[in-house]
Amino acid sequence: MSAAHRPTLAVFCVAAVTACGSGSGSATPALPADHQLQEVAALTDVNPDPNIVEVNLVAQVSTTQYLDGKTAQIWAYRDGSLPNSKAAIPGPMLRTEVGNEVIVHFRNELPDETTVHWHGIRLPPESDGTPSSQAPVLPGSEFEYRFTTRDASSFWYHPHVRAYDQVERGLYAPLVVTGGVQPDVAADRYLVLDDVKLDSNGTLNEQTTGLDRMLGRQGNVLLINGRHAPAELRVAAGSRERWRFVNAANGRYFNLRVPGAQLLVIGSDGGLVPEPYASDALLIAPGERYDVLVTFDGSEGGSAVLQTMHYDRGHDIPDPGPQDLLKVAYGPSIETPRALPETWGETPALPIVSDTPVRPFVLEEYEPPGLPVLFTINGEQWPDSRPVYVKQGSVEIWDVQNKAEMDHPFHLHGMFFEVLSSGENPQPIGGWKDTVNIPQTSSVRLAVRYEPAGMWMFHCHILEHADLGMMGMLMVEP
Ligand code: C2O
Ligand code: CU
Ligand code: CU
Repeated sequence: MSAAHRPTLAVFCVAAVTACGSGSGSATPALPADHQLQEVAALTDVNPDPNIVEVNLVAQVSTTQYLDGKTAQIWAYRDGSLPNSKAAIPGPMLRTEVGNEVIVHFRNELPDETTVHWHGIRLPPESDGTPSSQAPVLPGSEFEYRFTTRDASSFWYHPHVRAYDQVERGLYAPLVVTGGVQPDVAADRYLVLDDVKLDSNGTLNEQTTGLDRMLGRQGNVLLINGRHAPAELRVAAGSRERWRFVNAANGRYFNLRVPGAQLLVIGSDGGLVPEPYASDALLIAPGERYDVLVTFDGSEGGSAVLQTMHYDRGHDIPDPGPQDLLKVAYGPSIETPRALPETWGETPALPIVSDTPVRPFVLEEYEPPGLPVLFTINGEQWPDSRPVYVKQGSVEIWDVQNKAEMDHPFHLHGMFFEVLSSGENPQPIGGWKDTVNIPQTSSVRLAVRYEPAGMWMFHCHILEHADLGMMGMLMVEP
């Protein structure tokens, strides 16, 4: 399997920012364009029907400057409805409302086959964009994805063919579904976090090392909305913003904190959590999303900084100390935000009883002498693994046991799950999830209702691990 794949490279990043309110901005001096937090434009909706979002999406080779004055070749998405748009990192945001029909006319202008996967979206399997659901879209070819959005939350889209390579090169973008409870905020921003491994000339390093395979490629430059971190942002003192985080990195974990501001976690993968919680730190494994409210207290001025801290995910990754992602300066005061809503998301409540079937999944890594590391689920290595067959509508508990001495973020397509117990997880997990970290040498129990019918995938979201075998298929039979 992996021998047939070109080892490659590395890229990353993200960004997407939707200013939506009175917040950041007008009366305050502009920062130098180079350092300002990058905003992410939304894809053009070409359909006049308010209930249909119809977009044109192109994947192609493009360029960026990760380092000032040094041009790097990337693979990226662009808005195909705007002839002069440039493919950028992150790609354009797909923004839609709950209940809308989404039609994506996708064109592949890359020199490689690809697909588009809508991470976290509950959709028909034929639009899931995976090797189990469609033939790859060949260079020069097109494919149409169609789905109706069911959940308001923060999602993202990315390829599902050699994702460790294609996502690293820059193919990823935010997807926001709005609707339901909307807290009063001065700005609603999508912050895509990533890292890239750059050579000194500012281009992506093209070599894949044993360490890259073992840990998922960790870069030497952090990206926030596709630009070299830290970015800068000016806000009004006393204001409250909504930040939607996604970790789009191949292997890096972001362990966030925001000294100088207050953090309230309000949502995760599948929507708002039932009870928001204040937190000093927020660990985001690859593939996960978290929505937070950030409040910049103080009527005068001040500053806050979004940082990522060391997190021990195994194999002794060296501690670089805190690294800055976003520097926030408070400007003059504005009126205080309105009170927060009283109710938030739904509490997942799958009917779990004492004889609910428990299905074991064992995650392991092997280092055969003289051969590259490989990863397995229940002793089988994708793509040679047999699908797991289950019955549509039934509820089961997944006991996901990680025997490896490194964390694996476990992701299931097509449906959400409820996290029942997670041994050493450093933070509470409420609400519906589609990706959850399974800490090294521990296990996590999930509850899932199999819906809808079709062939789905589950895998480690460290993208190298998935391609080196830690991926499986789930056949939900009607
Ligand atoms: Cu974000 Cu199977 O992927
Ligand atoms: Cu996914
Ligand atoms: Cu893994």
